[in-house]
Amino acid sequence: MILGAISSTDKKDLRSAIHPDTIKYLLDMGIEVIFESGAGDGISATDSKFEKIGAKSKSRNDCISSSDILLSPGKLNDDEIMDMKNNSIFMGLLNPFTNREQFQQFKKRGNTAISMEFIPRITRAQKMDVLSSQSNLAGYVAVIESAKLLNAALPMMMTAAGTLKPANVFVIGVGVAGLQAIATAKRLGAKVEAFDTRPIVEEQVKSLGAKFVKIDLGNTGETSQGYAQELTKEQLKLQKNLQADVCKKSDIVITTAQIFGKPAPKLIDLNTIKAMKEGSVVFDMAIESGGNVEGSKIDSIENINGVNIVGFSNLPSYVSSHASFALSNNFINLISDFYDNEKKSFNLNLEDEILQSATVVSAGKILKKEFD
Ligand code: NAI
Repeated sequence: MILGAISSTDKKDLRSAIHPDTIKYLLDMGIEVIFESGAGDGISATDSKFEKIGAKSKSRNDCISSSDILLSPGKLNDDEIMDMKNNSIFMGLLNPFTNREQFQQFKKRGNTAISMEFIPRITRAQKMDVLSSQSNLAGYVAVIESAKLLNAALPMMMTAAGTLKPANVFVIGVGVAGLQAIATAKRLGAKVEAFDTRPIVEEQVKSLGAKFVKIDLGNTGETSQGYAQELTKEQLKLQKNLQADVCKKSDIVITTAQIFGKPAPKLIDLNTIKAMKEGSVVFDMAIESGGNVEGSKIDSIENINGVNIVGFSNLPSYVSSHASFALSNNFINLISDFYDNEKKSFNLNLEDEILQSATVVSAGKILKKEFD
C-alpha cells in the first residue's frame, strides 16, 4: 500500500499530514510512504529529514496519482480529485459544511473521501479525533496571541514599584478549545471566568481553578455526541445581556462557541464592545464558522472603540509542529485500526461505526444524504 502526504491547498496552512516523529510507525507496518516535496517546510522538516527516516519525496501530482491513501491537512482541488489513483481514498480536514461541492467531484471520480471532522465522539475514536487535537492547540494559541496584544501582563506581580493586578480573562464556550484556553490563561497567572450553555461544564471549569459564570437560560442541554444544542432567539438575547457585565470588567474575552454543522451563535454585540475597557482584547475563535463577535473579520484585528477584536483563522497552524504531530497521529491511528496485515491494505469497513460516520463518499456513492 502506498500512502501519500500532500500539503494543504491553503498556502497559509503550515501543517503537515506527516511528522518526522510519527512516520516510522507507518513504515514499520510495511506501508510505503511518499510525500509532496516541501510538505514539511512549515514544521522545519526538510525533504531530506523525511527521506532519512525512509519516506520518499515526490511531486504533488505524483503523490496524488500514485497513492492508495492520500492525506492532507486540508482538502483537494476539483482537478486534483480527478487525478487520484483508481479506487484510492482521500483522508483530510475537508471542512465539509463549507466545501460541499467537493463531494460531487469524488462521486464523479468514483473514489472515497473520509472527512476527519466526522470521526465520531466515542471513546475508541478519541485517538483519531482531529477536532479535539487541533482545537486543544487552538485554545492555547488564542491565549498567547491575546496576551501579546494586551498592553499589560497576565499574572499578579508584587513589586517594589507597586502591585500589578492580574488580568481578567473570560472564556465563552468551554469545549476542547475553551478548556485549554482556561488552562493556559491560568498557567499565565490570569483570573479566569468561563461560561458554557452545557451545565455539565461547570465542574470542568472549577477543576481548572476558574470561576463558572452562572447564567440561567432555562433548558439548554447537549446532543448525544456531546455538542451544544442551538439556543432559541430569546435565550441568546438573555445570554448576551447577562454576560455583558462580565465582558465589561474583562481584559481578554475569548469566544469559542460553536454549534456543529451550523453558523456560530452571535454572542457579543457592538453595545457590549463599546462598554468594554479600552485596550482590552476580544478573540473570536469561531470566526471560521461565522464568528461569535459583531465586527470581527477573518485574519484581521479590528479596533472598535479602543478594543481589539481578533479574528485569526487556522490557529493550530501557529504551532504547526505540534499540530502536525497530533494530526499525523490521528491519521495513523485511523489507518492502523483498519489495516489488514495479511492483505497489506486498508479495510474500508463501512459496518464499523467510525468509518460509517467519517466516510462521506465511498466508491463514487455519497453516503451522507445531506451532501448529495
Ligand atoms: P464545539 O467546538 O462544538 O463548541 C465549543 C463550545 O461552545 C462547546 O462547549 C459548546 O457547548 C459551546 N457553546 C455553544 N453555544 C454556546 C453559547 N451560546 N454560549 C456559550 N457556549 C456555547 O465543542 P467541542 O470542543 O468540539 O466539544 C464539545 C464536547 O464534546 C465537549 O464537552 C468535549 O469534551 C466533548 N468531546 C468528547 C469526546 C469524546 O470522545 N467523548 C471527544 C472530544 C470532545
